[in-house]
Amino acid sequence: MKVLNFGSLNLDYVYSVDHMVRPGETLASSGMNVFCGGKGLNQSIALAKAGVPVYHAGMIGEEGGILLEACKEGGVNAEFIRTIPGKSGHTIIQVDKDGQNCILLYGGANRSITKEYVDEVLGSFEEGDILLLQNEVNLLDYIIDSAYERGMTVILNPSPYDSALDACDFGKVSMFLLNEVEGAQVTGEEDPEKILEKLKTLYPDTKVVLTLGGNGSVYQYKDEQYRQGIYKVKAVDTTAAGDTFTGYFISSVIDDMPVPEGLRLAAKASAIAVSREGATASIPLREEVLGWKE
Ligand code: RIB
Repeated sequence: MKVLNFGSLNLDYVYSVDHMVRPGETLASSGMNVFCGGKGLNQSIALAKAGVPVYHAGMIGEEGGILLEACKEGGVNAEFIRTIPGKSGHTIIQVDKDGQNCILLYGGANRSITKEYVDEVLGSFEEGDILLLQNEVNLLDYIIDSAYERGMTVILNPSPYDSALDACDFGKVSMFLLNEVEGAQVTGEEDPEKILEKLKTLYPDTKVVLTLGGNGSVYQYKDEQYRQGIYKVKAVDTTAAGDTFTGYFISSVIDDMPVPEGLRLAAKASAIAVSREGATASIPLREEVLGWKE
């Protein structure tokens, strides 16, 4: 069984600020760094650091060599990544003094996926292989349909949520990993319990992992439900904490771990990521997570 993540690769321009800049305000930042990120790349690196061999597919622009390097250093197979003329995806991220962030995203090369490229990549995968997706590349609906036709298991992190997701057939998704904001956008409900109920009604055969920020996470599949709290750490930068959780939880599923153990592993890994700067740079190795004392 092979694992493919078809997703974004971004250059994250990260600015340290006292507070998020307000409309009309000019704000001096106290620091600036460029990190490798993108929900796709972060999740691939989280999977690889958790010990899962993973192939990443996606597109980068001419200045994206550093993103390829990050794949290689992070242990991600980059053979399907294509470099095209133009700019890579990038973000402008503000991180405030409490470690909270806000992200402005420019899709760049991530939005240049073609059907021919999708067909070519998926041609190397088969029934029983796993496909992980987020919503930072174009043609998500086509990728889901094509992978499902091949008998691949589709796992979707519908993040960030936007109207492109309306074209996707969520009935073909085996597992959703989403936060409460995305849960509200998918279901139209605000209360986490109602989000869970509605997801079960809408997609009865789909496993769900709903993350609830400071209130931890919930796994739900049919009548089964498990809950996990967060591990409290001093937040330095929350960027990629959710991606770290996603990659680590999926690794636990691949390793056939009991769900409560998988949720615990993912919560620990994301707590470590929150305590560090950057996206891919903040993701811990499995040994570190296993040896981490709360
Ligand atoms: O989830 C965090 C990621 O979201 C950042 O690395 C940024 O690139 C955006 O895609």
